[in-house]
Amino acid sequence: MAEKEKVVLAYSGGLDTSVIVRWLQTEKNLDVIAICGNVGQDEKDLEWVKEKALKMGAIHSEALDMREEYCNTIVKSAIQANGEYEGVYPLLSALSRPVISKHLVDIAHQYGATTIAHGCTGKGNDQVRFETCIHALDPSLKIIAPVREWDLTTRESEMDWASQHDVPIPVTKKKPYSIDDNLWGRAIECGVLEDSWNQPPADIWTMTVDPTEAPDTPEFVEISFEQGVPSAINGEKMDLLPLVIEANKIAGRNGYGRIDMIEDRVVGIKSRECYECPGSMLLIEAHKALESITLDRETLKLKQHMDQEWASQVYYGYWFSQVRNAIDAFNAYTQKFVSGTVRFKLYKGSLLMDGIKSDYSLYDESLATYGEGDTFDRTASKGFIDLHSLMTSTWSKAQGPASGNQPA
Ligand code: ARG
Repeated sequence: MAEKEKVVLAYSGGLDTSVIVRWLQTEKNLDVIAICGNVGQDEKDLEWVKEKALKMGAIHSEALDMREEYCNTIVKSAIQANGEYEGVYPLLSALSRPVISKHLVDIAHQYGATTIAHGCTGKGNDQVRFETCIHALDPSLKIIAPVREWDLTTRESEMDWASQHDVPIPVTKKKPYSIDDNLWGRAIECGVLEDSWNQPPADIWTMTVDPTEAPDTPEFVEISFEQGVPSAINGEKMDLLPLVIEANKIAGRNGYGRIDMIEDRVVGIKSRECYECPGSMLLIEAHKALESITLDRETLKLKQHMDQEWASQVYYGYWFSQVRNAIDAFNAYTQKFVSGTVRFKLYKGSLLMDGIKSDYSLYDESLATYGEGDTFDRTASKGFIDLHSLMTSTWSKAQGPASGNQPA
C-alpha cells in the first residue's frame, strides 16, 4: 500500500479541530500530525489535548511550549513598536499566529509532511495570518482549511458528523462566545456581542475584575525598561515571560485593560470585539511614556507613524515580511536609549502616570523651569519667531490678510 501523505494540523483539542482530525483522515486520506502550541492560553492541560489526538488515530502529536520564544521575539518587538491595531487593540491573536506557524512548518519539514491544516473560519483574520505566514516560510507547502470547505455549518451538523465518525464529543455546553487567548491578552467575539448595542455581559471577563469591584486604595507600580524591553517590575528584575504574567496580575486586579471596539477585519468586515489586555496595555503605556522623554520630537512623530504601520502589517498577517523587518530595523535604532523607569497609579480601571525617569532623559528641568536656575535664552526667541512666521507673514502680505482669506 502506498504511503499516505502527511498533514500537520494546528490542533486545540476543541470540537472543530477534533472533527478535523477525523475529516482529514476520512475525506482526504491523510495521516495527521496534531500540534498544540502553548502560547500562554488559559488551557490547563495540553498533555490531555495531545492524548486526545493520539486516541483519534493521529500518527503523532505534540504539545509545544512556545511561550518563551513568543515573548522574547514577537512580544518584545510588539512592545518596542507600541503595537496597537487601529490605535487600540494590542494584536494578541495576530502576534501568536506567526510563532505557531513557524512550528507547524518546522514539524512539517521534520516529518516530511506536504500539507498544513488549520481550523479557522473563512470570515476571519486568523486564516489569512496562518496561510500568509506559512506561504512566506515555505511556499511549497499545501494548505487545507476544512471549515471553509465542509458543509458542517451548524454546531448540530458538526456534532452529528462527530458521533457518526467516532469523534469524542465534548460534554460541556457550547461556549456562548468565540475566545482566543494567550499571555498577551484575551479576545472575546460572537454570541450576544454581535449586536453592537448589547452591553458586554459580565461573564466574558476573566483576566480583569470589574473596575467597580477593584480595591478602594490605589496601587502604584514601577516598570523599568532596558533598550525598550521591560526588565523589572517594582525594582525586581525579571525575564520577559514572568514579567508579562506579573503585569497581567497587577493590572487585572485593578480592573485595567478592558476594550470594547468595532474593528476592521482584513476581509473587509467590521466586527465587534471585546478584549482584555491588562498586562499588554500596562506595558505598552509604560513604554510610550518612556519614549516621550527619551526620543526627540521629530523621531517620536515619525515613530508614531511607523508604529501604526507596524500594527497594520502585523494585523494583516505580514509578520514574515520585508516591511515588518524594515520597521523593526528602525526600532533597533530608536530603542537604544529607551531605558528608565515609569511609575503608574492604578485605581479602579484607570491608569495614571505618576512619575518617570531615565539616565538618557531629554527632559531638562533647567530648560523647562519657570523658577530658579533657568538656562533657556529668552532673548533668542524673538529672532526664532520672526523666521518661523516668515512664511505666513509673506502670504498675508501678498494675498490679503489671513482674516479675509479663509476656505470657502
Ligand atoms: N479580531 C481579533 C484579531 O483578528 C481576534 C481574533 C480572535 N480569534 C478567534 N478565533 N476568536 O486579531
